[in-house]
This record gives sequence, structure tokens and C-alpha cells, in this order.
Amino acid sequence: MRVSPWPGSASPEVRSTISAAITGWGTALPEGTLTNAELERRVETSDEWITERTGIKERRFALEGDTTSSLAVEAGAAAIKKAGLVPGDIDLMVMATTTPDQIIPHTGSFVSDGIGLRCGSFDLNAACAGFVYALVVGASMLTTGNLRHVLVVGAETLSRVTDPYDRGTAILFGDGAAAFVVSRADDDGDDGPGLLAWDLGCDGSLTSILEVPAGGTRQPATHETVEARQHYISMNGPEVFRRAVRVIVDTATLTLERAGLTVDDITWFAPHQANIRIIDSACGRLGLPMERTLVNIEHYGNTSAASIPLVLAEAADDGRLQDGDLVLLSGFGAGMTWASALVRWGTS
Ligand code: ACO
Repeated sequence: MRVSPWPGSASPEVRSTISAAITGWGTALPEGTLTNAELERRVETSDEWITERTGIKERRFALEGDTTSSLAVEAGAAAIKKAGLVPGDIDLMVMATTTPDQIIPHTGSFVSDGIGLRCGSFDLNAACAGFVYALVVGASMLTTGNLRHVLVVGAETLSRVTDPYDRGTAILFGDGAAAFVVSRADDDGDDGPGLLAWDLGCDGSLTSILEVPAGGTRQPATHETVEARQHYISMNGPEVFRRAVRVIVDTATLTLERAGLTVDDITWFAPHQANIRIIDSACGRLGLPMERTLVNIEHYGNTSAASIPLVLAEAADDGRLQDGDLVLLSGFGAGMTWASALVRWGTS
């Protein structure tokens, strides 16, 4: 992967940067499943409504004993193995999650212990945009920190913060994890693998459209907050929908402009898997055909920071992703945050 030093054009600055590759990836999905039929029995909804309005048929959910960190450990260890490395080879881990195991310590501590890492690690919370944020930070550290291998993880157990009786949110969210090893590689010219351009953004005036109001330090958990179900996700769905389409289009367009490329140059678009209608609308406005868009929302729902790496890992495993492909990753989430990264895919 080639890291451009700043958010600008991929050339000419790109020539002076360090090349790197995605040398390994791994995923973890909990064994629990939640189908639309099961949701029909729990809340007033229907398989037809959920499928038509979201594209989701089923989600995976954490069973007793599963945690955000246990899923991250499984995905991270698999990614390190696939890269042909051992835990001691990893120089840094960036752990993207919006559903931490605990407030203290950071989830990366549990993951480090589970995998056997001895490097620095930190959590990064940018909600559903978290993985793309983490990838940009991790890849940048290869250059600025002179590192060899960075483990970038996206892991969530959203089922733990989703009200099972709220039909507006229970139908959407699922659990899972995926991890990439991002490694420095020999500079192999202008066509080598790399991060060509990126865009990270946040509009903090929109915090209230998607939040877990209580349980943090702003509103500590009390009997009252628990009774009011304020430790669950509260979301203005239509407002998130409207904003999401707009920010996905804007961040994807800006990122392509920064690389001096257009949608026609893109081999694959990997959008955050939040709602098939958001993906459809954004692709329509961008002029990106769905045939070049990676989608797996039907099986997993919205897994927040895990959604983009999960859909990418799936495409890498089944051979759709090939070295040299130009892949545009775009996510959005609570905050409201957004992030895009334009990657020239390469595994060595
Ligand atoms: N089953 C049946 N009917 C429902 C359901 C349901 N599960 N949920 C809502 N309805 C009803 C509503 O009550 C409403 O009925 P009314 O017209 O009688 O009042 C009607 O369906 C339409 O409701 P809307 O909320 O306007 O439905 P919408 O088409 O917007 O779909 C949805 C709701 C699926 C939540 C959509 O707004 C959405 O996907 N928004 C984006 C959410 C999202 O992406 N969130 C994640 C962000 S990423 C992160 O950071 C975690």
C-alpha cells in the first residue's frame, strides 16, 4: 500500500511515499443468528417490510461469552496467520469499535492479551466510519512511524446496545469483526499497491440523530436511565438516511478528485453496509453500477466498524478482489462521521 503524505493529489507526491500491502485479513462472526422471521415474532414488523426497506434478511449476534474483543481476537489472529506472520511481528494495532468491552481499559488491551501482541494499541471510535479512519491512521503510521506491520481491526457487538423491542433499530444491527494486516513493501513504481487518497470528516452538530444517550460519563447509568432504556441506541432513522446518502456521495467524490480519478476508474466500491437503499441511492448519484459495488448486508445487517472490512475480506477470499484493483471504501456513522479511502489493492 502506497501512502500519500497528505490529502491531496495522488501525484506527484505519491512517488516519494512508502509502498505497503494488505498482506492478511481475517473475519469472525458469532454463531447466533437473528432472522426476519424471528423479529416478526418479537416486534410489529414483517420480513417483507424489512427486506424492502433495508435489504437485510438476517444478522449475526453475540452469544453469552462473546465480546467485541473476543471477536476481534479471532479476526486479528486469522489475519496475522494469513499474512504469514506471528503476533510478535505486529508493530501497532488500531482497534476500531463503537461498542467497547468496557469504558476502562480500552478494548485493544483485551485484544492484545488474547492475540499475544506486545506492541502499542489504541481504540478508535468513529462509529461506522471507524474502520476507514483506522486504515488511514494505520497506513500513515507505516510511513511516519517507520513501522513494518500494522494490525487494523473493526469489531462490534451492537446487539448489546440495541433495544431488542425497538423495531426501528433491532432490524438493522448485527455483530462481527474483521481485521487487516497492513505491511510495508518494496516500492514497485507508480502502479504499486497503496492508499492513494482519503477523506475523514465529522459534523458534530448531528450527535443527537444517532446516539446511546446514557452509560457514559455525560449521563452515567442510573435506575432511571435504565428504565428509560437510554443505554440503547436511539436513532432518527429517516434523518440519518437523508444525511448518509449526501455524505457518502460527497466524501466519495472528494476522495476521487484528490486522486485525480473518476468513478469510471474504480474497480470496486465498498460502502458501509447500513441499508441497501442508502447504497442504491448513493451509487445512483455517483454513477457507480451496482455490479461494481460490494454488498453483503442481506446476511449481516449493519455491523458498524466491521462492515467494510467484512465485505472486503469476503471479496478477497472469493477472488473478486485482485492485485491492482482500485477500491473505494466509504463509510458514515454516528457523530456524524464519514470517511473514504481510495486503495490500490495489493497483497505483496
Ligand atoms: N416494521 C414495520 N414498520 C416499521 C418498522 C418496522 N421495523 N420501522 C418503522 N416502521 C413504520 C414506521 O412506524 C412508519 O409508519 P407510519 O408511516 O405509520 O408512521 C413507517 O414504517 C415509515 O417509517 P420510517 O422511519 O420513515 O421508515 P424508513 O423508510 O425511513 O425506514 C429505517 C426506517 C430502515 C430505519 C431507515 O430510516 C434507515 O435505514 N435509516 C438509516 C439508518 C442507518 O443507516 N443507521 C446506521 C448509521 S451507522 C452507525 O453509526 C451505527
